[in-house]
Amino acid sequence: MPGFELFGEEERKEVNDVLNTGILMRYGFDGPRKGIWKSKELESALCKRLGSGYAQLTSSGTAALTTALAALGIGAGDEVIMPTFTFVASFEAVLSVGASPVLADIDETLTINPDSVIKHLGHRTKCLMPVHMCGSMADLDPLIDISTKHNLVLLEDACQSIGASYKGKSLGTIGHAGCLSFDFVKTITCAEGGAVLTHSHEIHQKCDGYSDHGHDHIGTDRGADLHPFLGYNFRISELHAAVGLAQLRKLDQFLAIQKRNFLQLQQMLSQIPEISFRKIPDPAGDAFTFLSWFLPSEELTLALMNELKAQGIAAGNFYWYDHNWHYIRKWDHLKNAISLNNLSGPQLHALEKISKSNYEASDKIMSRCISTSISLLWTEEQVEDKGKKLVAAIRKILSRQSVPI
Ligand SMILES: Cc1ncc(COP(=O)(O)O)c(C=O)c1O
Repeated sequence: MPGFELFGEEERKEVNDVLNTGILMRYGFDGPRKGIWKSKELESALCKRLGSGYAQLTSSGTAALTTALAALGIGAGDEVIMPTFTFVASFEAVLSVGASPVLADIDETLTINPDSVIKHLGHRTKCLMPVHMCGSMADLDPLIDISTKHNLVLLEDACQSIGASYKGKSLGTIGHAGCLSFDFVKTITCAEGGAVLTHSHEIHQKCDGYSDHGHDHIGTDRGADLHPFLGYNFRISELHAAVGLAQLRKLDQFLAIQKRNFLQLQQMLSQIPEISFRKIPDPAGDAFTFLSWFLPSEELTLALMNELKAQGIAAGNFYWYDHNWHYIRKWDHLKNAISLNNLSGPQLHALEKISKSNYEASDKIMSRCISTSISLLWTEEQVEDKGKKLVAAIRKILSRQSVPI
């Protein structure tokens, strides 16, 4: 997810516009800023490109999730169903608003399995949070059905999937709200930043206030703002928004390069019948940031990762099953409820339940999955070279297996 790979004059120009005024804050200072409002400009550009009614920038994707949850009314005692495969930020945001995460299994889409969601519904369930992992989408239609039938809030974590879509609609614009991240390793970056997308004026107004100490942002005298509700500081700065603006203008170029490199690599791996690929509910909507594929067994996948490491070509091939950040298996701090401050009774209860749960269905998928990240800088020859080395390593591992001991 490499927006930082194509960074240049465009980003510098936008940042210099801000530096020339010296107004680094997104609100207020109407006179001295001389008409430079990069955050507002980026919010409008996001709405236009992604087809969202409103966008609220925040200081990170984690802050966007926290802001969205609060604006959607999720808090103490509420449960949020989310997948076993995501980034730790998804459950951090849930815990930070006082709610409890409930983990449901994933399926071969590498996103939440609607059947597993149904098994985890309870009287405290208030929100369903699909996470569109690695540039591609959750199977949204059944999830929309579940959320409608059970009167749940649908919050899309689209932090990893800006530019991807489902049935013609941008990810993040389909649920009641959706969140994006612009951290340094995302498809487009502004170093640190995020956004909440929504079609609801009311939810947007709440996000706008919540992410700025509850300010009502009425009028031009910030000191005279009222505080209709409690909020926090999750503001983005003008410098970050300026970088994001230049990056957003390059999004379609990035997506096109990713698609070209992804398809070339996929075509090479397709030569091996033992390899299967991640299920994509709407292939036309993939952002092509990762090529995710499966080997037939955990043993083979481990053997391949060891082979790739031994050959010095493992970089960019992610075995999430063994990863500290993205999969339940290594989230010991969550499972053991290790928190610097007190968690609530319902939260402790929910985490204990997670620690005692069996996520075998997710394990069966994640233990065989490798995601190869797609670079914007690869030439056709480099993809060819990488593909050949990968194919040779896979064949070597598979042939070892077929030799009787
Ligand atoms: C799925 C997912 N959600 C949320 C986040 C949080 O974004 P940020 O790093 O901007 O806080 C990330 C970041 O990696 C992510 O991958």
